[in-house]
Amino acid sequence: MRILVVGSGGREHALAWKLSQEAEVVVSRGNPGIAREFECESDLDALCERFEPDLVVVGPEAPLIEGLADRLRAKGLAVYGPGEDGARHEGSKAFSKALMARAGVPTSVFRTFEDPSGAKRYAEERYAEGKQLVVKASGAAMGKGAILPPDLAGVLETIEDLMVRKTLGEAGATVVLEERLMGREFSLMSVCNGPEFVSLPVAQDYKRVGDGDTGPNTGGMGSVCPADWVTPELIARTEERLVAPILRAMREAGIDYRGTLFTGAMAVDGEPYCIEYNVRFGDPEIQSIAAAIGDGFAELLLRAARGEPLPPAPKLERCAVSVVLASAGYPGEYRKGDLISLPTPQEDARYFFAGVGSDGVGLLTQGGRVLAATGVGTSVAEARTAAYRAAKEVSFEGLQYRKDIAL
Ligand code: AMP
Ligand code: GLY
Repeated sequence: MRILVVGSGGREHALAWKLSQEAEVVVSRGNPGIAREFECESDLDALCERFEPDLVVVGPEAPLIEGLADRLRAKGLAVYGPGEDGARHEGSKAFSKALMARAGVPTSVFRTFEDPSGAKRYAEERYAEGKQLVVKASGAAMGKGAILPPDLAGVLETIEDLMVRKTLGEAGATVVLEERLMGREFSLMSVCNGPEFVSLPVAQDYKRVGDGDTGPNTGGMGSVCPADWVTPELIARTEERLVAPILRAMREAGIDYRGTLFTGAMAVDGEPYCIEYNVRFGDPEIQSIAAAIGDGFAELLLRAARGEPLPPAPKLERCAVSVVLASAGYPGEYRKGDLISLPTPQEDARYFFAGVGSDGVGLLTQGGRVLAATGVGTSVAEARTAAYRAAKEVSFEGLQYRKDIAL
């Protein structure tokens, strides 16, 4: 089998690595770290023509929202990743919330606003009833779209920022105000072929930048698979209440959803509520999942892309922990262009490259999240030891990482 992976981050490196156990893999556009292991080429159309892939796996949400999967399908390629219609879950929170309501998916009470005065009035009324709110920009805002102010004054200020001062540009022109759920968060990634899905083992990510879940939110500072507290009953309930109904509602709306449905959920008193759907694998969740699962991943994605009946999901064969090594300053303004020194990792660990560049000789830091050190073992504790051993061997100026992943 020949697979082309689209994207340039740690998620795509992990996907390429896992898929290469069962297929020949190339990447577009990739990065200099991925290019150490895989052919990378920035011209996607040229690569499609030359490589003639059996399957194209689109990693990130942005090209999906822009309709890349539709464009490639129109060329007759089998593509894993939803079309522009299904990708609206991530491109428009207003669309996603409306579909949840139609599908009867449990989610927090919400309202959508296009004018700041209506939004402020609604916020004042909810706080008078003792509720707390989350403010979300409806458009895709690179993970910065959900804001959780501490009080009503903060909510009013945030509405002003998004809708009047346009701090997130057009993404904040439409705002969703929703009731704040109090519970424990988890995410379930389901591989969908249109009508059906199978879910991968659950991984937990660590969103805050600092140890003990302190500091601002990031794209994710680490992950562990499996996430033991997410019980089989909770997974079954999530599939039944949050995954199956939304797929059904999409089909009724004429959306043939082939790709990952990432359900971001909150367990409130043991019951799952949907916070959001994403349309791609989680980063850095997939780094740990890819390292932890057994065979059959490439076949599963191929069948999903072709709309064929799905085999069971690959089995969990080991535990995995990923620690993200980030640039100084991340998630704010961060340093760039520092030389990365890395050893060859031991057998139970590997590096997945994200924000890296090259000076022609060595790898340089380029993004906020530079790479992930992923370790495996027969227990989470063993995997954790392997991941941190590999993390400690990397050095670059200002390197920061959390010390409490999977603890
Ligand atoms: P989102 O941009 O919708 O993915 O939200 C980002 C993060 O904000 C989530 O992962 C949660 O931690 C938090 N969040 C979003 N919506 C809610 C909610 N209704 N209640 C509590 N926390 C939320
Ligand atoms: N790590 C969270 C995400 O990929 O959305």
